[in-house]
Amino acid sequence: MRGFLPLLTCFAILQNVRGWREFSRGRWNGGNLRLLEGDDSIIGDFENVITDWFTQYLDHSNPTDDRTWKQRYYVNDQYVSKRRDVAFLMIGGEGEASDGWMVQGAWINYAEKFNAICFQLEHRYYGESHPTADMSTENLQYLTSEQALADIAYFIQEMNVKYELSPNVKWIAFGGSYAGSLAAWVRQKYPHLVYGSMSASAPVLAKINFSEYHTVVYEDLKDTGGDKCVSAVKQAFNQVDLMTRDIAGQRKLYKLFHLCDNITESTSSSEDIVILFDTLRGHFAGIAQFNKKNGGPHNINLDTLCNIMVNDTLGPEVNRLAAVNYLMTAHRCLDCKYDTMISEMRDVSWDSEAPVGGRQWYYQTCTDFGFYQTTDRIPLDFFIKQCSDIFGPKFNLTIVERGVQRTNTLYGGLNPSVTNVIFVQGSYDPWHALGINKSTKLYPAVVIDSASHCENMYSPSVYDSEALRQARIQIEEFIGNLLKSA
Ligand SMILES: *[C@@H]1O[C@H](CO)[C@@H](O)[C@H](O)[C@H]1NC(C)=O
Ligand SMILES: *[C@@H]1O[C@H](CO)[C@@H](O)[C@H](O)[C@H]1NC(C)=O
Ligand SMILES: *[C@@H]1O[C@H](CO)[C@@H](O)[C@H](O)[C@H]1NC(C)=O
Ligand SMILES: *[C@@H]1O[C@H](CO)[C@@H](O)[C@H](O)[C@H]1NC(C)=O
Ligand SMILES: *[C@@H]1O[C@H](CO)[C@@H](O)[C@H](O)[C@H]1NC(C)=O
Repeated sequence: MRGFLPLLTCFAILQNVRGWREFSRGRWNGGNLRLLEGDDSIIGDFENVITDWFTQYLDHSNPTDDRTWKQRYYVNDQYVSKRRDVAFLMIGGEGEASDGWMVQGAWINYAEKFNAICFQLEHRYYGESHPTADMSTENLQYLTSEQALADIAYFIQEMNVKYELSPNVKWIAFGGSYAGSLAAWVRQKYPHLVYGSMSASAPVLAKINFSEYHTVVYEDLKDTGGDKCVSAVKQAFNQVDLMTRDIAGQRKLYKLFHLCDNITESTSSSEDIVILFDTLRGHFAGIAQFNKKNGGPHNINLDTLCNIMVNDTLGPEVNRLAAVNYLMTAHRCLDCKYDTMISEMRDVSWDSEAPVGGRQWYYQTCTDFGFYQTTDRIPLDFFIKQCSDIFGPKFNLTIVERGVQRTNTLYGGLNPSVTNVIFVQGSYDPWHALGINKSTKLYPAVVIDSASHCENMYSPSVYDSEALRQARIQIEEFIGNLLKSA
């Protein structure tokens, strides 16, 4: 599969497993709208897909700044009618854009049905869309949702001309995860350019202390394996906690979880312990977020994890957690060094080894969104400290608070004043806690039972639930009605 960033592949097997490299803060390395290797529904013909570059302004808020850069986009015009009056835009989010999406996904089925020309615009600062020479903190000041929305607006105007679209063309935007928020916001901010949107799994409410994320993960575990699974997981974390407190316990942790370095009082910072917790909880969170659809590595889902956690022949709960860890890390050692993580995230070069898009996304959390998935053992301070350790002392709690308030002021949080948008959530997806789950007079909302993050955006498959099938039909009807209305 082209354009897909493999999650756990051969070349990685020799490396250490770093929790922050694979799945961290509710984001998979490379972004949340992932195309899957081995997806059984890959169809279509890349011959129809064009890759091109759009000359974009760096700073849309300052007309005296004439610096420009090249933004990557993809086009597939195989379904467009002679009237050229329907255009679909897949909005790029917090990861590299993928040409795979130009030939598959539910939106391609809709494009075929409604004769749309399809565009995908990569988000500034991700993938190959590099607005600045590097990712220094100074240069990242142009990485904001507002700039990204303006990028979309200028892009649409240009494509209308370049592709000789009808003066009555209707643009429909699609996006999932952060890009789902952008899909709603671009309609809100530029209604003269975007006629309507499908916004999937969008955390439209910016929030610093996102403790609800883990509440949903526990609900999912309960739904999957009952109270037995939940209490085994909680018990295991309590046992890990106890073991962190003395040298004998720390040695046991080192062995049990196959850590790359001994966690001992003398060699570790307290952040290393928090990273251990963050990585272990990430095993459950990552699978909950993508559960059945995206199965994670080796098609693991929540059933797999609960089956291990309640299997008492494996020993005490902490040993079962170690078995989960063993499975999720493909047997590699676990790197919990805070200092290593920070030094990777400080790398400002575009070809850095840092998790793809990790530095950029962390910057957006510090300045725009928060979204810190706190638990009893993973305190807010841990995340805020990273903002200042990665980007400089200026980036403290005050800055994050101001950024989050600003974002909610700009867009209206859970009460946006927007029409022609359909908001779609999966009930298993922890991110749904920051999204719109109720229809109003202005817009419809669909909550898909037991669905995961952005699940409705993938191509239909034989494994889809009835609820998911129905939701895709509802979305298709919604788009059909938008295109019908005058
Ligand atoms: C974050 O939210 C949780 C749950 O509401 C709460 O227990 C915790 O104290 C909060 N943390 C901070 C730093 O506000
Ligand atoms: C870690 O500690 C264990 C037990 O004390 C010891 O056997 C091992 O050699 C240590 N490993 C490293 C990498 O320091
Ligand atoms: C429990 O784990 C043991 C050891 O790995 C395995 O043989 C057994 O099949 C497991 N039991 C269940 C019910 O999965
Ligand atoms: C953040 O830093 C500013 C000065 O740069 C300071 O005024 C403010 O009190 C700091 N906030 C916190 C929460 O430490
Ligand atoms: C729907 O959203 C509201 C507001 O965020 C929240 O209180 C409620 O728990 C959500 N319901 C579900 C089923 O997610």
